[in-house]
Amino acid sequence: MTDFVGLAEEIAREAGEMLLAKRPANPEVVQTKSSPTDVVTALDRASEELIRARIMSARPEDRVLGEEGGDTPGSSGVRWIVDPIDGTVNFLYGLPDWAVSIAVEVDGRIVAGVVNAVPRGEMFTAALGSGAVLKKDGLAVERLRCNSGVPLGQALVGTGFGYASGRRAVQGEVVAAVLPRVRDIRRGGSCALDLCSVASGRLDAYYERGVNYWDWAAAGLIAGEAGARIGGLHGTAPNSELTLCASPGLFEELHDLLVPLDPLRD
Ligand code: IPD
Ligand code: CA
Repeated sequence: MTDFVGLAEEIAREAGEMLLAKRPANPEVVQTKSSPTDVVTALDRASEELIRARIMSARPEDRVLGEEGGDTPGSSGVRWIVDPIDGTVNFLYGLPDWAVSIAVEVDGRIVAGVVNAVPRGEMFTAALGSGAVLKKDGLAVERLRCNSGVPLGQALVGTGFGYASGRRAVQGEVVAAVLPRVRDIRRGGSCALDLCSVASGRLDAYYERGVNYWDWAAAGLIAGEAGARIGGLHGTAPNSELTLCASPGLFEELHDLLVPLDPLRD
């Protein structure tokens, strides 16, 4: 049986080293996607190519879903979910909050998740049912546990904004209504790292409209294994409409604050 966490970690480490070594002073934008500010750099593509090549050489029958390369078929029942750089805008500007995110699904269930926060030298990992760990410089330093018992009014809440201006206008209205009800808001620029921050107690909660499966697949498992609840609105699984994450109790409080704000109305 493959050690999926070990393999994902090895691949995420190699991709991270390549990105650090090759990041030029001013990375070039080679493509825009949903809007002119939704960018792809040459290194997003190079990172995904490296990750796909390593997966294919270790497990040629597996399926791979990647942000840049789409969903490529496989026959083993195993699918890898890859975000080659989460936080591409931070990467572009030389800000430190970006990460390589790799998750492994077996028969539709995420069983392993790895988020390599490259500039911070931090590797977050989790295996389903075995807890979540933060490693610094390759050494396990902390078993992760999310904060618990934090009331909404004391909560530090992470969120993010999509790339389309119409959606952002609604997200701005929603966050304006959340802000007076919580300790404060953070916008880090990487969904994967925001979820790892909930897992490690650096944030109490997170919500965002419009994130993709590759943004949260690995970090969602890490947060869940650290004791957080991750889901969508009205009891659904986390999804691209809205993803919320917090310890049980705070999750419901934030959920009930968001619902009347009609956050999906864009
Ligand atoms: C983005 C980041 C960001 C979030 C956006 C995502 P990308 O992913 O996770 O924090 O607010 O919704 O699209 O484009 O950097 O891979
Ligand atoms: Ca992403």
